[in-house]
Amino acid sequence: MSVSRILISPEGPQFSRMVMGYCRLLEWQMSPQQLLGFVEQHVELGLTTLDHADTYGDYGGEAALGQALKLKPRLREQLQIVSKCGMVLPSEHTPQCHVPHYNSEKAHILASVDKSLSNLGTDHLDLLLLHRADLLMNADEVARAFTQLKRSGKVRHLGVSSFTPSQFELLQSRLDFPLVTNQVQISPIRQQAITDGTLDQSQQHQFKPMACSCLGGGSLLKAPVHQPLRDVLAQVALEVDAASIVQVVLAWVMMLPSHPLPILGTGRIERVRQAVQAENIVLSRQQWYRIRRAALGRDVD
Ligand SMILES: NC(=O)c1ccc[n+]([C@@H]2O[C@H](COP(=O)([O-])OP(=O)(O)OC[C@H]3O[C@@H](n4cnc5c(N)ncnc54)[C@H](OP(=O)(O)O)[C@@H]3O)[C@@H](O)[C@H]2O)c1
Repeated sequence: MSVSRILISPEGPQFSRMVMGYCRLLEWQMSPQQLLGFVEQHVELGLTTLDHADTYGDYGGEAALGQALKLKPRLREQLQIVSKCGMVLPSEHTPQCHVPHYNSEKAHILASVDKSLSNLGTDHLDLLLLHRADLLMNADEVARAFTQLKRSGKVRHLGVSSFTPSQFELLQSRLDFPLVTNQVQISPIRQQAITDGTLDQSQQHQFKPMACSCLGGGSLLKAPVHQPLRDVLAQVALEVDAASIVQVVLAWVMMLPSHPLPILGTGRIERVRQAVQAENIVLSRQQWYRIRRAALGRDVD
């Protein structure tokens, strides 16, 4: 069983239908050799797209992945690497940063990409996302940085993360190429993007959103408050012959008409293997709405 491939916007790029997220990479405590093995195994399952960011792993995650990829340089040709910039967090790697903030200045974006490329040991990113809409964002300045990165070939495609529809429109209005995605949280326990216009915009512009934290960072599976939701997910899993409630959650996310690409957050290959089977699960409209109701505790009006 291998996941399919999907064009995330009419102009590309083509990504795997599910994406492997590397936010928790350092928690997995893998040696470079073990990490290489993990990458090879998820690539075998069809997950060739990797989601990363400059900040992940306290600014050490990209270098950790880069060290693993260095052990088998030709693997890079099979991968699509996504990274992000624009969020600045206090760390020993950012001695000038005293308060978490966003920085979308051109110089910061360009320097951040150079650092990501060097840490990852690659000459290009397949996709760069602005991690958050900087409240002090000057759209013309971001557009100049994005345009320069695209022209230089350092970044093949550009997009955003956690943007509101109006923030997206503002930045898009300054670009002469399309933003190819908006990466947002989508989960039964985080349905805001479904109703606030974010996913409508995605359909309108014909790009696919990338869906992060589909399991709420794991809380959907653990928190007592979500027990009623888990009960309904378990009933639906039986009805559709799914092996786990995680598969049902992923099928629920993928059923949205904007075709979100779920980003998996697990570092356990057996969980990845089980997750990819969610692509074959078809929920009925009423099953989808039962899950929505169980998560929100109320019916549609
Ligand atoms: N753009 C943004 O601002 C943003 C925000 C958040 C995340 N992201 C991206 O989205 C990715 C996924 O986010 P996330 O880590 O919050 O995802 P998630 O799928 O909601 O949560 C993953 C967590 O759930 C745990 N888990 C427990 N049982 C599991 C099971 N059966 N299957 C899968 N996971 C299970 C995992 O632990 P184990 O490892 O032990 O399985 C892991 O700690 C990140 O790596 C990152 O690339 C982006």
